[in-house]
Amino acid sequence: MGSRYRGVRNLSAIEVKNLTVRYDGYVAIEDVSITIDHPSLVVVMGPNGAGKTTFLKALLGLIPYNGTVSIFGKSPRKVRDRLGYLPQRERINLNVPLKVRDVVLLPLISRKTGIKRYDVKRAKEALEAVGMVDFWDSRFDSLSGGQQQRVLFARTIVTDPDILILDEPFSAADVRTKLALIDLLHKLKREKTVIIVLHDINPLVECTDRVILLNRRVLAYGTVAEVITEDNLEKLYGTKIPVIRQGPVCYVVGGDRHA
Ligand SMILES: Nc1ncnc2c1ncn2[C@@H]1O[C@H](COP(=O)(O)OP(=O)(O)OP(=O)(O)O)[C@@H](O)[C@H]1O
Ligand SMILES: [Mg+2]
Repeated sequence: MGSRYRGVRNLSAIEVKNLTVRYDGYVAIEDVSITIDHPSLVVVMGPNGAGKTTFLKALLGLIPYNGTVSIFGKSPRKVRDRLGYLPQRERINLNVPLKVRDVVLLPLISRKTGIKRYDVKRAKEALEAVGMVDFWDSRFDSLSGGQQQRVLFARTIVTDPDILILDEPFSAADVRTKLALIDLLHKLKREKTVIIVLHDINPLVECTDRVILLNRRVLAYGTVAEVITEDNLEKLYGTKIPVIRQGPVCYVVGGDRHA
């Protein structure tokens, strides 16, 4: 399955206009308008309850919203197969005795043809990319939280989606896993659009193209240098957070305090 958008540059991957999401009348995000280029890496930051997960779910067309979301010029549901989603701290039903290979093969299984040999190859490659291929035959529920997260990451990339939507993908990862996933993201962002919710931007600061500061509304949207300022972070989190600048990059001191 080749990507229709591979090698295509300077295309708008995502156009969001006046996006508002309500839960039973409660406004979780309001009037969000943003254009995201393809390929690029966009980090979404904001305090707990800011509407980050809600924003991602709207991009995926998983929840009702007002306004427009257009992905490669189409509605999210029409391009669902081009989107890879890693939900926040996902729980797979642990009562089902799934093996690691089943978890990664699941998105590839076609009702008509079942599992093909090529699917097995792709699943193995995806697990290889996150360093989990040795666990091919292990029970998913026997893995640690961080190992499960790596397998779920493999499941997200196995279909070779054009857009990756990742909700706090490092939350259960140890330092080594985090570094391996960051390395992988560096590679993936060359040809994909990656939208990633992070509480700590520091590990990705050098490969981030744009940052969205979200707290119900968009407080700022721009490059790391434009957006990560002490003023903006104070507005976002309601507390002083020092920022260290080193040339074109800047690091948030105590950036993982909300993780
Ligand atoms: N299914 C739901 N029904 C009702 N309210 C919801 C629902 N999902 C989220 N909310 C509310 O919408 C707001 C935004 O939630 P959301 O999960 O998008 O925040 P978040 O920025 O992802 O937070 P966190 O950093 O804790 O993951 C919160 O106030 C939350 O209580
Ligand atoms: Mg969330």
